[in-house]
Amino acid sequence: MGLSVKHLLGIKELNVQDIEQIFQTADNFKQVLQRPIKKVPTLRDTTIANVFFENSTRTRLSFELAEKRLGADTVNFSASGSSVSKGETLIDTVNNILAMKVDMIVMRHMASGAPWFLANHIDASIINAGDGTNEHPTQALLDAYSIREKLGSLKGKRITIVGDIMHSRVALSNIYCLNKLGAEVTVSGPPTLIPKHIAALGVRVEYNVKKALEWCDVANVLRIQLERQHKPLFSTLREYALYYGINKQMLDSLERDIIIMHPGPINRGVELNSDVADSRQSIILGQVENGVAIRMAVIYLLSGKREISE
Ligand code: CP
Repeated sequence: MGLSVKHLLGIKELNVQDIEQIFQTADNFKQVLQRPIKKVPTLRDTTIANVFFENSTRTRLSFELAEKRLGADTVNFSASGSSVSKGETLIDTVNNILAMKVDMIVMRHMASGAPWFLANHIDASIINAGDGTNEHPTQALLDAYSIREKLGSLKGKRITIVGDIMHSRVALSNIYCLNKLGAEVTVSGPPTLIPKHIAALGVRVEYNVKKALEWCDVANVLRIQLERQHKPLFSTLREYALYYGINKQMLDSLERDIIIMHPGPINRGVELNSDVADSRQSIILGQVENGVAIRMAVIYLLSGKREISE
C-alpha cells in the first residue's frame, strides 16, 4: 500500500500501478460517500493546508470536503488578503503555515512548476491542485476515473480533448493519464490553440471538431482561457462558438452517442451549449462528485496510513 511518490506533483511522475491504486481506493471512498454519515476518522491526527494563489471553486471545495470526510483538520489560505501582497515569498509563506504543525500542503499556483520548486524546499507532502499551464493531476485522475466508471476500462477507448489545449493544464495531465492507461487521444481546436509539437506526446491532432467527435467515445471539452492569452489567438468568441463550439445539433448528427465531459468552469454558449452541458450524454456533475473520492484517495495514500477506519 502506498504510492511510488512522496508528492502528487504531476501525472507524469506516476506509474500505472499508482493510478490503479488511486482508483481502487477511490472506489472504497465512493462507497463511504453514499452512506448517511459520509466520514471516516482515518486522518483525525492530520492537518492539511489548502494554499491557493489562484481562484478556484471546484478544486478547493472538493479538497476541503475530501479532507473533512477523512477526519483531517483543515486550514485555507488565499493569496488575496494575505501577506503575499506585502512581499512575502512562496517558501516563507508555506514555511510559516508548516510551523503551525501542518502535515500536508495542497497548492494551486499561477506559475507552472511552482509545486516542484516548493518540493525542493519543504519536507511535507505536496499535492498540486493546478500549476499555471502545466499540470492538474487530480483533475486528470477524476476525469479518467469517470470514464472508467462509464465505459469499464480506459484501454483502447478514444478520447477527444477539444478547445484551448495550449493553455490547459487539464489537457496535459489528461494526455499523460489517458496514455498511461492505454486510451487513444485526439486533440482538436483552432491551430492557434494547439501546441505545434503536441503529436510528440503520442496524440492525434484533428482541427475539424466534427471529425474529432465522429472518431471518439468521449469528448472532454475545455474552456478558452482568456486570462492566459496575452495576444488574440482567434477573432471573436462568437466565431469560436460557431466553428469549435459543441451544440446538440452537432451531437445528434453523429452516428452514435458519445460521452460529454468538461472540467469546469463552463463558458456556456462558447465551447459548450447548455443543450449539451445539461443533456443525458453529459457526465459533468458526475466528474465533480467523483472528484471528492479521488482526492480522498490521493490524500489517504500520500498520508501513509494503513487502514481506512470505519
Ligand atoms: N476544474 C477546476 O479546476 O475548476 P476550479 O478552477 O473551479 O477549481
